[in-house]
Amino acid sequence: MSNDFKNLDMTMMFAIHDALRRELERIARITSRVDEDPRHVLSTALGWELFKKFLTIHHTSEDLTVWPVMQEALAGRPAELELLDAMEAEHAIIEPLLADIDAALADRDSGQERLGGLVDALYTGLNHHLAHEESDALALMDLTLSQEQWAEFSNEQRGRVGADSVRYLPWLLDDAAAERSADILGKMPEPLRNAYENEWRVAYEGLDIWVPKDLSAAR
Ligand SMILES: [Fe+2]
Repeated sequence: MSNDFKNLDMTMMFAIHDALRRELERIARITSRVDEDPRHVLSTALGWELFKKFLTIHHTSEDLTVWPVMQEALAGRPAELELLDAMEAEHAIIEPLLADIDAALADRDSGQERLGGLVDALYTGLNHHLAHEESDALALMDLTLSQEQWAEFSNEQRGRVGADSVRYLPWLLDDAAAERSADILGKMPEPLRNAYENEWRVAYEGLDIWVPKDLSAAR
């Protein structure tokens, strides 16, 4: 799919979106479990923290370095500007949902009742946004942004991940098809690729990101 674009390399964009979708599935599955309190899993396993962190980094980077740059370039073109407004509006509903879910996780009394509806809203809202961005906005990005502007976005995102790339890269590639992993790793500098293959991947697997912390400590 990333080959449909003429100008920009969208490999990472699709990898991030797929990682977010993968985690949404896991979060929805955990929330629908009846044998264990989902609040316990979501509030003690590392997976929920990583999901929030990497989702927020991705959206913030787009909000800072993609939509405003495109808005400037596309001034006077109402249909295109409307799409960019929709991208921003779709982002804006996600962050309050994350906070509401955290509030429900911390609420011992009625949190459990609210959690299902909130996770449903997150699942639907984020899946819809990712699909909308892929079907409409990525093609417009490809037509509008220069290589330099696209690099700004990558740099912003990379800078925000910072030292957490130790967890980010294996999180991104967790469950990815072999072809996708090879493609992404092939574009990385050799020391980074070696660090991933020799250390980061194994360390990440050891984190068992969706195992509640008290259980993983007892193993
Ligand atoms: Fe995106």
